[in-house]
Amino acid sequence: MAQMPDGELAPRSGLLPASAADGLSQRTLHAYLHIPFCRVRCGYCDYNTYTSTELRGVTQNSFLDNLLTEISFSKNVLQQLSPQNREFSTVFFGGGTPTQLAAEQLALVLETLRNEFGIEENAEITTEANPDTVDERYLTTLAEAGFTRVSIGMQSSVASVLKTLDRTHNPENVAKAVSAAKAAGLQVSVDLIYGTPGESLDDWRESLATAIDLEPNHISAYSLIVEPGTKLARQVRSGQLSAPSDDDHADKYEIAEQMISAAGFDWYEVCNWSKDESTMSQHNLAYWRSNDWWGYGPGAHSHIGGTRWWNVKHPSAYAERLVAGESPALARENLDESEKATERVLLELRLREGMSIELLKSINPLVAKPISQFIADGMVNAADAIRGQLTLTLKGRLLADALVRDLLG
Ligand SMILES: C[S@@+](CC[C@H](N)C(=O)[O-])C[C@H]1O[C@@H](n2cnc3c(N)ncnc32)[C@H](O)[C@@H]1O
Ligand code: SF4
Repeated sequence: MAQMPDGELAPRSGLLPASAADGLSQRTLHAYLHIPFCRVRCGYCDYNTYTSTELRGVTQNSFLDNLLTEISFSKNVLQQLSPQNREFSTVFFGGGTPTQLAAEQLALVLETLRNEFGIEENAEITTEANPDTVDERYLTTLAEAGFTRVSIGMQSSVASVLKTLDRTHNPENVAKAVSAAKAAGLQVSVDLIYGTPGESLDDWRESLATAIDLEPNHISAYSLIVEPGTKLARQVRSGQLSAPSDDDHADKYEIAEQMISAAGFDWYEVCNWSKDESTMSQHNLAYWRSNDWWGYGPGAHSHIGGTRWWNVKHPSAYAERLVAGESPALARENLDESEKATERVLLELRLREGMSIELLKSINPLVAKPISQFIADGMVNAADAIRGQLTLTLKGRLLADALVRDLLG
């Protein structure tokens, strides 16, 4: 999140190495737009986002101009890489709080992407939304502009948990936002967080039950990470709050799986459940399957054909670059074949479809031993392993990160 990898300095021209075009026709192209505004900062969050006093003169209007400039800039860079025109397969507005912008502003950005690149028919087009920032008029404007999906930051339905998280939204507004999104014809995902200090197992059950009663198409549930440098980290360090234990996280994950699947959802990635295949997040699947995406906005990360880069973080530094006609990229790295394969293990093992054991063997020839152990320990499905695919059981999902470490040797 807040930490940027090191990498090498990115060229101000933004031009990509020729290797980024290798195998281009086998990959889809996706757009992520980072909107770096929040009314207040939640105590646990270290995303690249700014409240009004931290913006050093950047306004929402000037930011919008910069974002549109980066879209034109990206068109030029991608055309120089390959003359082949590629439409976007999905578009995702994240933040920060994208819905701090007017609906008409988000619609304008989408229209610009459509005009510059084209967007595939029936593409998934999502915005994240804070419950207090949207109503039916707002969401209908988005739907009319082509948005198909909204991901609502619910986090919890329990007042004391929301207070510890510093969330300012009124929990009743979540139900209102979900109804408004459905009335506008949008698919709905809700985001939950578990493991907040002081959250009991019953609190978590109550949040899950409330989320399920809203009848969304999709639910994400993330364990709370105590990010260094946040207010939450200071509260934990001073002893004011106690960090949740691994056992608490594991118990809550099992409760989530049990309640969400009983309500008719299936997991398709460790932290994500959907009603059916058509409501899985196609945008996130594209990341996990190592496709190409351009991340627009301050601090946004991009990936095209094994070249990864990330933009300067502050919206004022981002503005300076674009106004000067330069790339906003700060640094970049080119992944070699072995780094690409390692990345695939990290991402694909978390998917329900799992990953090919052949691919694992090409990275670590000694992988048979840990796999046999995982089967013996009930972490991976034996039948799938026999047909050459490594897929996680519920027990394996609880320890996915540790399994990846063992597989990479
Ligand atoms: C960065 S927010 C952006 C969308 C919107 N502002 C919101 O809060 O819902 C996206 C998701 O990341 C989650 N998130 C942020 N910091 C986190 C942390 N330290 N641990 C777990 N989830 C976190 C948020 O709760 C939210 O569901
Ligand atoms: S509203 Fe979302 S992005 Fe903004 S500070 Fe809170 S969690 Fe972070």
